[in-house]
Amino acid sequence: MWDQRYSEPGFAYGTEPNDFLLETYQHIPAGGRVLCLAEGEGRNAVFLAQMGYEVTAMDLSEVGLKKAQQFACDKGVTITTQLADLADYPFGEQQWDGIVSIWAHTPKEIRQHVHAQISTALKTNGAFILEAYTPEQPSMSGVGGPPATQTGMFMSLDLLRSELSSLDEIVAIEKHRNVMEGSSHQGMSAVVQYVACKKD
Ligand SMILES: C[S@@+](CC[C@H](N)C(=O)[O-])C[C@H]1O[C@@H](n2cnc3c(N)ncnc32)[C@H](O)[C@@H]1O
Repeated sequence: MWDQRYSEPGFAYGTEPNDFLLETYQHIPAGGRVLCLAEGEGRNAVFLAQMGYEVTAMDLSEVGLKKAQQFACDKGVTITTQLADLADYPFGEQQWDGIVSIWAHTPKEIRQHVHAQISTALKTNGAFILEAYTPEQPSMSGVGGPPATQTGMFMSLDLLRSELSSLDEIVAIEKHRNVMEGSSHQGMSAVVQYVACKKD
């Protein structure tokens, strides 16, 4: 499905970084190593590389990552891309100054497995930045998010607090906001926004 979406001309979510990432990326220590989860066509990874970070973008779409590499090249920055599945991605220990999860919706079991590894994978003072659609999204006027029937793929603040309890919360909010990201994410949407960091 994702390869098919990314085979369309243009960028499904646009070429600008996600608004919430733009507001919060400076919580990631300057110049650090950043892992962008489920990064698709690379708009967030390229932005972070432009801001001086050393960025790895992972995704299971080969077509998306090829576009991400071309986009980085066009912008004159370097990113590392990894074709991988979050279900068995090797996060490592104390590897990352930042981990970014923008609309990285997966089945519940995979998400729990991913979130269980975030604290170990971050370096001390590293930051985790996430924006996701909440279960309210199917009743909103905006376009975007998992199919309404896939209830386990949505996220909420309570859920994030329970799955990421070992991190220190910096931003944690559920809100409605107007999302304008390419043709695939448009309009008034129900989202959860979350930033937390790892302290010793
Ligand atoms: C809504 S898109 C978001 C893309 C990107 N984060 C952005 O904000 O532009 C969701 C992405 O999740 C990726 N994805 C879904 N399931 C995945 C998995 N199990 N492992 C890795 N990537 C996955 C898809 O390939 C797709 O690129």
